[in-house]
Amino acid sequence: TTGGLIDTHGRVHRDLRISLTDRCSLRCTYCMPEQGNEWLARTSILSTDEIVEVAEVAAALGIRTFRLTGGEPLLRTDIVEVVRRVARIEGEDGPVEVAMTTNGISLAQKLPALIDAGLTRLNISIDTVDRQRFADLTRRDRLDDVFEGIAAAAASALRPLKLNAVAMRGVNDDELVDLVEFAMGVGAQLRFIEQMPLDAGHTWDRTSMVTREEILASLGERWRLDPVEGRGGAPAEKWRIDGGPHEVGVIASVTAPFCGACDRLRLTADGQLRNCLFSNVEYDLIGVLRGEGSRPGDRSEGIADMLRSCVHGKLPGHAINDPSFLQPARGMNAIGG
Ligand code: GTP
Ligand code: 5AD
Ligand code: SF4
Repeated sequence: TTGGLIDTHGRVHRDLRISLTDRCSLRCTYCMPEQGNEWLARTSILSTDEIVEVAEVAAALGIRTFRLTGGEPLLRTDIVEVVRRVARIEGEDGPVEVAMTTNGISLAQKLPALIDAGLTRLNISIDTVDRQRFADLTRRDRLDDVFEGIAAAAASALRPLKLNAVAMRGVNDDELVDLVEFAMGVGAQLRFIEQMPLDAGHTWDRTSMVTREEILASLGERWRLDPVEGRGGAPAEKWRIDGGPHEVGVIASVTAPFCGACDRLRLTADGQLRNCLFSNVEYDLIGVLRGEGSRPGDRSEGIADMLRSCVHGKLPGHAINDPSFLQPARGMNAIGG
């Protein structure tokens, strides 16, 4: 190949997160306004052919894991085909991983086909196990659908199964232990996430964020937590619960950033490459894909060049903690989480 995706700070990029749609079946208050956002036009969303074309070039440059995100990736009508075609790609050293981050709605129905298509791993978001709270937080009364999705995932062979919960003051900070117990009950690993300034309404403030330290204090009242070594490039720090076998994780993007080990790139549903959740620059990959006179085959070099430029432009880390921090223009649902 033509050299890997190594940035100017020596970080090797192995993980490409691909957002398949900006739409979602929920309306979490911390992510979207009630009426939803102004959605991307259907014609500006990458086709499956285009996604596969990019993924093939990325794999040749060293990407090993593709994570499908959204919005909600299961809303994409051809989701099974996307998984099937990406899973077929050969990486530098063997088949690539195709993982998905989903809110779990309709997962129970779709999971057998997704697994047959080659899905290798699942992360499911669940911020509360209380029905009324779930309805208030997501503005949709669909906790039972999420439970069904989690049950289906738990019954499948996909492991590790991870559950994500954004910890929020006054919303779910009194049920952190309940969430962990729920996860243990289904054989999943719960990860608490510090809320990041990425909401469409730009309403994030530091005081409503529950910190890593507070999460650990709350769990520490119930269990003995021993740190698990060997984090690699993973965003979550993990602890063993009461000597095992269960583990709990914390993704402390704000109070303990892991940018130094970041191995991720992001592709938005409308074909823009990003080197960071918080970058203010996007690389116009869809322009390469749809450029005048551009033909498949001829485009590989252009796609590779853009992936390399994107990696080359990556800053050492985010600036959430700088007084001058400005939130990126697009919110989480458009960037892909
Ligand atoms: P694993 O590979 O299973 O560890 O997945 P993941 O944790 O990287 O992905 P997931 O989609 O489950 O994301 C969980 C949380 O981590 C979300 O809040 C993401 O926004 C956040 N996250 C994922 N990757 C990054 C990253 O590179 N930087 C930051 N700051 N947050 C990230
Ligand atoms: N900060 C941290 N995590 C967030 N997520 C959505 N918005 C934010 C935010 N502002 C989470 C979702 C999901 C994952 C993809 O990202 O709840 O679990
Ligand atoms: Fe990577 Fe940016 Fe996340 Fe830091 S904030 S870990 S650089 S994506």
